[in-house]
Amino acid sequence: MAKSENIVWHDSKVTKEDRRGLNKHKSAVIWFTGLSGSGKSTVSVELEKELYSQGVRTYRLDGDNVRHGLNKNLGFSPEDRKENIRRIGEVSKLMVDAGLFTLSAFISPYREDRDEVRELVEDGEFIEVFVDASVETCESRDPKGLYKKARAGEIKGFTGIDAPYEEPKNPEVTIDTDKLTLEESVQKIVSYLKEKGYLE
Ligand SMILES: Nc1ncnc2c1ncn2[C@@H]1O[C@H](COP(=O)(O)OP(=O)(O)OP(=O)(O)O)[C@@H](O)[C@H]1O
Ligand SMILES: [Mg+2]
Repeated sequence: MAKSENIVWHDSKVTKEDRRGLNKHKSAVIWFTGLSGSGKSTVSVELEKELYSQGVRTYRLDGDNVRHGLNKNLGFSPEDRKENIRRIGEVSKLMVDAGLFTLSAFISPYREDRDEVRELVEDGEFIEVFVDASVETCESRDPKGLYKKARAGEIKGFTGIDAPYEEPKNPEVTIDTDKLTLEESVQKIVSYLKEKGYLE
């Protein structure tokens, strides 16, 4: 809910469709969700590189990066996680309006929060990518040493250990990083984008 009533939308003369026309591709949020260590950041970085090489404009929003700035006043309580995702959703929407593919890589463990972002943008502008890897795999990778800390009780409310992860029910794309290589995961997403007409 807005805190002020005295705000009026001011339209631009250049529209989202104009910007898409200039770019020669559509724009959408590619929303990566999955456990810590499932590969959201790794896959989104590679996907961005691949899209860039095809002349596609992108911007990557990543959990830790955003928490250094925009969301540095937020923690990991359910309320703060919700506000974290809400803000990212709004920023993603601006980026989509700017004509870019936004690659958002956040654990985003709650279905309701992800669905709120889906509702925020127009039909077809939210591509949910479920980065599916078992807790065992993620824990064995433990790229940031966070599972170790969570097991030692040094981090409370860690997703997959003592906080829930709600799997997407109908994700647009699922990448099983237990089985697929990094390149195969990237190709699966690129194929989806071509198949659905996001890219030429
Ligand atoms: N097939 C694969 N796809 C992606 N990553 C893989 C794969 N196999 C192994 N890995 C490794 O798994 C780790 C995934 O870590 P990454 O930081 O991308 O996870 P994340 O989902 O972004 O976690 P967090 O939510 O903590 O940011 C990396 O060390 C990566 O090299
Ligand atoms: Mg990450």
